[in-house]
Amino acid sequence: MARSPRSLVSYIWCLVVAEGAVVDLAEWSSAGWFVQNDGVMGGRSSGNLQVSDSGARFEGSINLDGGGFASFRRDFGWFGERNLRDYAGLWVEVDALAESSLAPVAIHVELDDASERSGFGAAMAIPPGPAGSTYSVFLPFSWFRKQLLRSCRDCILNPGRVTGVGIVVLYQEGFFSFRVRKIYAVSSESEVPSSAGRMPTLTTSDSDVWKMIRASILRGSYAWNQGYPEQCGALYNSTAFVISSARNISETVQSIARAATSYAEQFPLNLGNNAAWIYRRSFDAISAAYDGSAPPPESRYPQVAHGDWVRTAMSGGSVQPLPVSDLANELQQQMVSGAPGQFALRSLGLLFVGCMHFLVGLAD
Ligand SMILES: *[C@@H]1O[C@H](CO)[C@@H](O)[C@H](O)[C@H]1NC(C)=O
Ligand SMILES: *[C@@H]1O[C@H](CO)[C@@H](O)[C@H](O)[C@H]1NC(C)=O
Repeated sequence: MARSPRSLVSYIWCLVVAEGAVVDLAEWSSAGWFVQNDGVMGGRSSGNLQVSDSGARFEGSINLDGGGFASFRRDFGWFGERNLRDYAGLWVEVDALAESSLAPVAIHVELDDASERSGFGAAMAIPPGPAGSTYSVFLPFSWFRKQLLRSCRDCILNPGRVTGVGIVVLYQEGFFSFRVRKIYAVSSESEVPSSAGRMPTLTTSDSDVWKMIRASILRGSYAWNQGYPEQCGALYNSTAFVISSARNISETVQSIARAATSYAEQFPLNLGNNAAWIYRRSFDAISAAYDGSAPPPESRYPQVAHGDWVRTAMSGGSVQPLPVSDLANELQQQMVSGAPGQFALRSLGLLFVGCMHFLVGLAD
């Protein structure tokens, strides 16, 4: 396309100005993105990557036998090391998952660091939502704590020496499919339009909320037990926000989820496990309400999750009990079918073992 000299000048000017605040770390079609799964360590997970100018779709399946991860990544190359010291963190934009998804999918966004020869991950989760909706998060560099490639004692990400970026799906058994649109380094959180981070509004039902909570607890507690509490926290955060903003569900359930999100807000997910405990207590209270029983006593949880907030959120409201054992059977079918947006489970037994394990950890 021919450009007049004047528009060319303004085009270059725009590039220079934009460069100051935002750097595209994905550069989708021009970069050598590649897939790396747990096959390197004897696992059997799969991942298929389709890259276009506007993003990357990653689809596959996680198999927990002998591994449990799939990832796609790029290296900036020998002379491509990036100095991101003048930036504050990453803006990651994704498409919402298919509306029929059982639960959000948690991912780790990874930055590789030349000085430590290690990769550091920050967890986030992708919520389900209406077709065409997108969702953004801001991940400050201080959240990139999880050592994914190699562990080194007391080392932290040096944003001055970034050599690559990756997206990792871990320990969420079964099928996954999601699309990442942007991975930008930004000079401040204000570069991310606040509307972009708003949770897509899901129209759902109480039965599907019950299943989403059970599925999140299964996935979250598995990740927790594997040493990934930040992934559990990100997943729970997403599930609680989806429920908070969903349409067509019990108001009391939403009120519990909202109490948890507003209380957990002060605890960044990648810097500790307090938020996960707060969410876990709210999920147990919601499950109990759907089951027509009383919520577990606060003594089942660490101090941080204690308090009257559950009772206050429930006061005056009532929840129509659900046929919980029928739903448990349906959930098992959906999980085993491994259909898009869902995930396979070896058996529902595992679901309850996972929860018990989590509860045992919590009682200590
Ligand atoms: C709305 O909720 C009702 C009762 O739970 C359910 O039967 C219906 O399928 C829900 N609608 C949608 C669109 O999910
Ligand atoms: C939890 O999810 C909400 C909703 O998208 C988001 O605004 C918030 O930043 C998340 N919390 C953390 C600590 O990541």
